[in-house]
Amino acid sequence: KPTLELNNTSKETFSSAGFILSAIGSSVGLGNMWKFPYITGLYGGAAFFLLFTICLVVIGLPILLAELTIGRGSRGNASSAFTILSGHKYWSYFGGLGVLAAFVIMAFYTVVAGWTMHYAVQSFTGKLFSGGDFGAQFENFNATLQPVGWQIVVMIISVFVVAKGISGGIEKFNKVLIPGLIIILLVLMVRALSLPGAGAGVEFFLKPDFSKLTVESALVALGHAFFSLSLGMGTMLTYGAYVEKRQSLGTATLAVGFGDLLYALVAGLIIFPTSFAFGIPSSAGPGLVFVALPAAFDAMWMGEFFGGLFFILLAIAALTSAISILEVPVAFVMDKFRTTRAKAASSVGALCLVFGIPAALSLYGPLSGFLPGGKSIFDWMDFLGSYVLLPLGGLVVTLFTGYVWKHAGQEAGLTSGWYKLWMFLLRYIAPFLVIAVFIYSIYSN
Ligand code: PHE
Repeated sequence: KPTLELNNTSKETFSSAGFILSAIGSSVGLGNMWKFPYITGLYGGAAFFLLFTICLVVIGLPILLAELTIGRGSRGNASSAFTILSGHKYWSYFGGLGVLAAFVIMAFYTVVAGWTMHYAVQSFTGKLFSGGDFGAQFENFNATLQPVGWQIVVMIISVFVVAKGISGGIEKFNKVLIPGLIIILLVLMVRALSLPGAGAGVEFFLKPDFSKLTVESALVALGHAFFSLSLGMGTMLTYGAYVEKRQSLGTATLAVGFGDLLYALVAGLIIFPTSFAFGIPSSAGPGLVFVALPAAFDAMWMGEFFGGLFFILLAIAALTSAISILEVPVAFVMDKFRTTRAKAASSVGALCLVFGIPAALSLYGPLSGFLPGGKSIFDWMDFLGSYVLLPLGGLVVTLFTGYVWKHAGQEAGLTSGWYKLWMFLLRYIAPFLVIAVFIYSIYSN
């Protein structure tokens, strides 16, 4: 019989607003601002955005609701939750995939989060704009040990917030930073849209080019909907375990989905007009944000200030996601080893750096020559975490909620019509599409 003492009934809880803000903080992140713009640029502008929206609504939201429901129903962690609800020990191993995914993703996410902090400082101090060629600057910075320093800063902040707990740490952090994020976002959007020549960027972003839509772009859109909603690694499940019974999970799901989509839309309305106004190609690839946009800020009135604000925005978005990623293994370690939050957070953080520092050094730094299978350590972690473990974790969630756990409907509190739709998507649609993404990403990598 299941070890029901795993079911930690004395768990802390989020306030209602604190939960919604923290879940939005988790979903809105580097994915929306660093990855989304360049894949939109590559895969067909607005047509891709439309596809992304469909994937997010049809596959993303049902799985998001499933994760929140599993979390609250079990009050467990990303691994134990499945055992608590099913009564079978082996389910905790499947759930453990999520814990592993979180660990791997945290290791490289902190690298990029660190870059954003460095760039914020460089922009405000003007050093970024006096340093010449932005591509070379990006590479030179990555060839030093500085990215590791910034990565450690990100990790220390995350460990500190997570160690403070749910209401005193994660919730407080998000309650302060998310409103700040929204204000900066709006300021930058107004600035970007008022640039002469901004219209071409808006047009590129919002005018659909359906000829660019391929099976590939659909799979990329679905994979990104997953990453963007923080699904597949137990983040939302872990947060869900701290949600009070009277909170409507359906409303929370809609708020997070809508918030994430709106944020991606506004991010596009900042990035495309800015880059088009200064004649910078929209599909500049992963370097878009760190290489192309600085050139635009350089040419802009008060560019130091707006550039600095832009990178602060990225840093906030990254930090509120990083803490949600870290919380997954921390909650697991706390339950498993019956230790305190502070101990769990600091030991997971330290262990994560052991894997994360090589990732930081693997792009242009001392480990850049080490390319097992043609990929750097950083790319391996991104591939393994985002393209292998996340879809597998998502599959576990859909199958578990659709076929195994019989009381999901009661916990989710849906009306019978919504419940039927939810189950239909979880049983017959989501698993196949998630498997398709999985096979595609393995194959195309
Ligand atoms: N959703 C976050 C983003 O868009 C990343 C993330 C993925 C966070 C998975 C938690 C879990 O950047």
